[in-house]
Amino acid sequence: MIKKNTSHSIKLINYYKLINHNLIYNNKAINRYKKDNYEISANKAENLEKLKKTIQNLKNCSLKENAKNIVFNDGNPKSKIMLLGEAPGANEDEEGLPFVGRAGMLLDKMLASINLDRKKVYISNIINFRPPENRKPTEEEIKRYLPFITKHIEIINPKILVLLGSTAMNAIIGNEVVISKMRGKWIKKNFGSCKTNVIITFHPAFLLRQPAQKKMAWIDLKMIRDKKI
Ligand code: URA
Repeated sequence: MIKKNTSHSIKLINYYKLINHNLIYNNKAINRYKKDNYEISANKAENLEKLKKTIQNLKNCSLKENAKNIVFNDGNPKSKIMLLGEAPGANEDEEGLPFVGRAGMLLDKMLASINLDRKKVYISNIINFRPPENRKPTEEEIKRYLPFITKHIEIINPKILVLLGSTAMNAIIGNEVVISKMRGKWIKKNFGSCKTNVIITFHPAFLLRQPAQKKMAWIDLKMIRDKKI
């Protein structure tokens, strides 16, 4: 009896090896939703802290001088999904966290529609300080902050990078593209040692103004949900 069970187990193990069970299991898109683990390596924590300090210590930056708080990140630094917005608004400046105002509430709903939440993704912005009167960041400001966000992406090392809106898209992809043509496509891109899959979708603040476009954002969200990483 014991012998029969042992040989059955060995056969089962060999079968799992044959079908490469671990690979199939790990490649399932749904697996990314299982982990809520925030514990990051000392090296990653140190690099994030160093980057934050560098931005906090910027000299001659009128954005920083006019802002109440740096808005550096929210969410899970271990996540395979990183979201990038434009720049903080008044609520974000007050709280020191990205996407906590009306646009943030819609972003939370968008994430919830594909079974995600802030504990399962990582969120930052192209610019870390609120531009006065919520104006768009200038080309010069974007150019100045670009090395920081590039480094930020490299440290987080996401498998999926979601660019929310045209400011994030233009900063990361270039100025010659328009969001109506670029959204809803996977683009492979490297940031230093990080090789990632970029997808562009509409900014939640734009969707609040143009709710008819939510159906396009839903297509993009489903692409994120179903991406095998
Ligand atoms: N809009 C953004 O792009 N980022 C925020 O953090 C808030 C609103």
